Amino acid sequence: METERQIDAVRAQVRAWQSQGLKVGFVPTMGNLHEGHLRLVRHARRVSDRVVVSIFVNPTQFAPGEDFESYPRTMERDSELLREELADLLFNPTVAEVYPRGLDHLATVHVPGLSEILCGAYRPGHFTGVATVVCKLFNMVVPDCAVFGRKDFQQFQVIRRMVTDLNMPVEIIGSPTAREYDGLAMSSRNAYLEPAQRELAPALYRCLRRLAEALAAGERDFGMLESDGWRELATAGMLPDYVSIRRRADLSEPVPDLPANDLVVLAAVHLGRARLIDNIEVADIVTEGS
Ligand code: PAF
Repeated sequence: METERQIDAVRAQVRAWQSQGLKVGFVPTMGNLHEGHLRLVRHARRVSDRVVVSIFVNPTQFAPGEDFESYPRTMERDSELLREELADLLFNPTVAEVYPRGLDHLATVHVPGLSEILCGAYRPGHFTGVATVVCKLFNMVVPDCAVFGRKDFQQFQVIRRMVTDLNMPVEIIGSPTAREYDGLAMSSRNAYLEPAQRELAPALYRCLRRLAEALAAGERDFGMLESDGWRELATAGMLPDYVSIRRRADLSEPVPDLPANDLVVLAAVHLGRARLIDNIEVADIVTEGS
């Protein structure tokens, strides 16, 4: 596996592969890789001939006071893991390579509506930072397809919308959430949990699952389910930002006669230093039960 820090080198390699008729898959990450990321790499390997992974901790998606400075940077270990997964190219650009004019007065990509709801309401500017850097990375790598985790369901929808609205020639693929043995969604930020908080954390998954099962069984009092979920998480010792039932296709507010398959349950909570997000697409529960 080659490691490149410069855009020209990555572009030249990807172009060379594509000119041989090879399909190039891309997995953008911020590093500190865990099994969840490695599954994205495996997914990309299944659907493409060559896999490029980027590691770039993107400053523009962190608000002042968030964990940009302390975000774990573990390049050596990450690159070893990627080598074992047989990734073909690691792109690890500097901030100056990605943002050559600095971070002020930037041209940005804003996906209206989707960026302001749910996590966007609690992290203003976050999804503009994400859409901007993903657009830049797509322009740098020029992949045929890109794989994103469905754990970050809102991010996945923001990127899909960006690609549709801007006619970007990249196929966006969502990969299922990787979970620990007790249901906790894998995340780099789980490392912030103290042992006692780590024991509590799977309550988030259990709560979302209970709500998704109620929806799959036909319950449609969304307000009641959301307040029940909120109470359950607060009682478990978490501080919820939101517990929300939405249309899976576009995260809009659902109407009661929607089929269960069209719904997704999402939540974000604070637990100690960590802010945890998770979601369950009700269609997955329906499939399990059939
Ligand atoms: O999901 C992430 O790790 C980041 O938001 C992404 C997509 C790599 C953009 O910085």
